[in-house]
Amino acid sequence: MRTLITSKAARRALRPIVQLIDQRIEREVRRHVEIASKDALQKELRTLRNRQRPLELFFDGTGRGASRLPSASHLNTTISELEQVTGAERQACERTVAQAFRLLIALEALGVGRIAGGTMNIVGKLSAVPLLDAPNDEILEIGTLYGMFGAALIRMSERAGRAPSLTIVDPLAGTQLQPGATMGHDASGTPVDLAAVRTNLSLAGAAGAAARIQPGFSEDPEVRSLVSDRSYGVVIVDGDHSAAGVAADLEWAEQIVAPGGIVVLDDFGHPKWPGIKEAFEKHMITDTRFRFLGQVAHSGYLRAASA
Ligand SMILES: C[S@@+](CC[C@H](N)C(=O)[O-])C[C@H]1O[C@@H](n2cnc3c(N)ncnc32)[C@H](O)[C@@H]1O
Repeated sequence: MRTLITSKAARRALRPIVQLIDQRIEREVRRHVEIASKDALQKELRTLRNRQRPLELFFDGTGRGASRLPSASHLNTTISELEQVTGAERQACERTVAQAFRLLIALEALGVGRIAGGTMNIVGKLSAVPLLDAPNDEILEIGTLYGMFGAALIRMSERAGRAPSLTIVDPLAGTQLQPGATMGHDASGTPVDLAAVRTNLSLAGAAGAAARIQPGFSEDPEVRSLVSDRSYGVVIVDGDHSAAGVAADLEWAEQIVAPGGIVVLDDFGHPKWPGIKEAFEKHMITDTRFRFLGQVAHSGYLRAASA
């Protein structure tokens, strides 16, 4: 029997059957390997996803409304816009944007409330102001919300070797006020008040603690006279976003911005706030000291004529 099976003829005759069995075994083995590696991959993916979630909390929109994870192309666009508006070297713009981005994440993690607006707009303002080299260190922020942007701007100015002195005007009325818009509860859950602003400014060291806070509305003559005691190197217009409100702030800025000083028009060209561009366009056809430098994300930049 054994010689019969091992004979040449028998081996030849059995070859197709043996090959068929081999193929079936191979298919089964492959199927098991595939199932095992698919299971392993899925398990690994689940583990990675679980590990990633706490990391995402540093950057996602929970508790601040906007995500802080810009794409590479958004970052590059902001850097290019900064180059154009400030005239600074690309390398300097890249460095400033990276530092501003890290600062934004750190301050929102440590402070109370949040900084208002999209990531690229905030990073753009924090980068552009020091790069525009204002003629003096006096900064006026009209509309501060939680004071956290002011704190960040102090830090960015100090990084550029400046000694910033910040003045803030805001009603600090418990919630954000916007004529003609219902703002509802803030995404951060924090009340908009003096205590929150002070806490955030304290994160910016001595210059933050020394910041001058004037509660009230920027169009109020009493408020204006209290803070019009100096010429400002930088005025940030980010209070009342209506056309009438921005027009009033621009008209005030004409009087208090130092020669060569900078005006930042926040939310410029933002579809939600058409009044800002409307007021700007009307203002620019008056007898103005201001020249339009350009736009970075959703902020417009103006420079006052030198004396
Ligand atoms: C968009 S938030 C400011 C955001 C802040 N600059 C930031 O970057 O996080 C606008 C702030 O301006 C305040 N505001 C509204 N009308 C104002 C006015 N007429 N004068 C000053 N502040 C005003 C609002 O209550 C709110 O706190």
